[in-house]
Amino acid sequence: MAFPITRLRRLRMNSITRDMMCETSVSLNNLIMPLFVCTGNNIKNPINSMPGQYQLSIDNLIVKCKDLLKLGIRSILLFGIPDHKDETGECAAHDHAIIPKAIRAIKSQVPDLYVIADVCNCEYTVHGHCGTLTSDGQVDNDATLQTLAKQCVAFAKAGVDMVAPSDMMDGRIGFIRKALDNNGFTNLPIMAYSAKYASAFYGPFRDAAESAPKFGDRKSYQMSPANSNEALREIEQDIIEGADIVMVKPALPYLDIVRRTKDNFNMPICAYNVSGEYSMVKAAAANGWIDEKRIVNEILISIRRAGADMIITYHAEEVAKWGIVS
Ligand code: PBG
Repeated sequence: MAFPITRLRRLRMNSITRDMMCETSVSLNNLIMPLFVCTGNNIKNPINSMPGQYQLSIDNLIVKCKDLLKLGIRSILLFGIPDHKDETGECAAHDHAIIPKAIRAIKSQVPDLYVIADVCNCEYTVHGHCGTLTSDGQVDNDATLQTLAKQCVAFAKAGVDMVAPSDMMDGRIGFIRKALDNNGFTNLPIMAYSAKYASAFYGPFRDAAESAPKFGDRKSYQMSPANSNEALREIEQDIIEGADIVMVKPALPYLDIVRRTKDNFNMPICAYNVSGEYSMVKAAAANGWIDEKRIVNEILISIRRAGADMIITYHAEEVAKWGIVS
């Protein structure tokens, strides 16, 4: 039926019908807050390129975790900043490494918080690449699977609730699944960073996690921003290998990928609203150029509308304080 019989504005005339017709919502249950944990005591280092975010030592991390839970944020994603690095990243996988220590502390002091740990080597290698290097400076896929699996098992033994491999090696989900199962962790879910792009939007994160590559770039393992069909192949592989949740990262510039994933696979989907997306909002807000609360709300709604079930976002804590979602 065409105009004038049809007038779409009729249902926009008051807030009751507008709310009645609302197709998409964001709940705090959908949000995951990333946190950076470092060694030492009483440390709260502001991350300059990410206003409002900090590197926290475990004592301060616990305070933050309690605050988040009180605000209604029930899950976090942990990144570790170690006090020493090595060639392969294996230093991340020891019992007393930063992430296993942090997991144990949270699980004993804030047991109701759901702890997801990012799994990658780039924060732990001296060269800053996500895996073990070959003699000609390439990342060795199959050797890297070993260190990733060791990390996962170490995190699992410390009591992590979910692991999230972000390295983009081929075959890592299957390899990690097997390692977890062999060690008795058959019920531990894997959230796969499946379609992870080689993106400039990770710039601020690499300051935060001190994980920028010392040479070259990540284009031999992370995806080209130009590709979309390839993302579906990556996602399909991870599903076949046993991923419980698939992720698209970054979020805003890749909402078409989120939607294609939703339309093609019957899987829980996570989108990562990454550091650069956060910092752009913060910078514009600090200049008074945008209405930060409305912009953040619109960003989160857009990511959900595209098809994401859950969103990893540095805005989570503030969103909970602002009460713009419930
Ligand atoms: C580790 C990892 C990165 C991010 C999450 N896990 C950085 C990278 O791949 O360089 C980026 C997160 C963000 O930008 O907020 N591989």
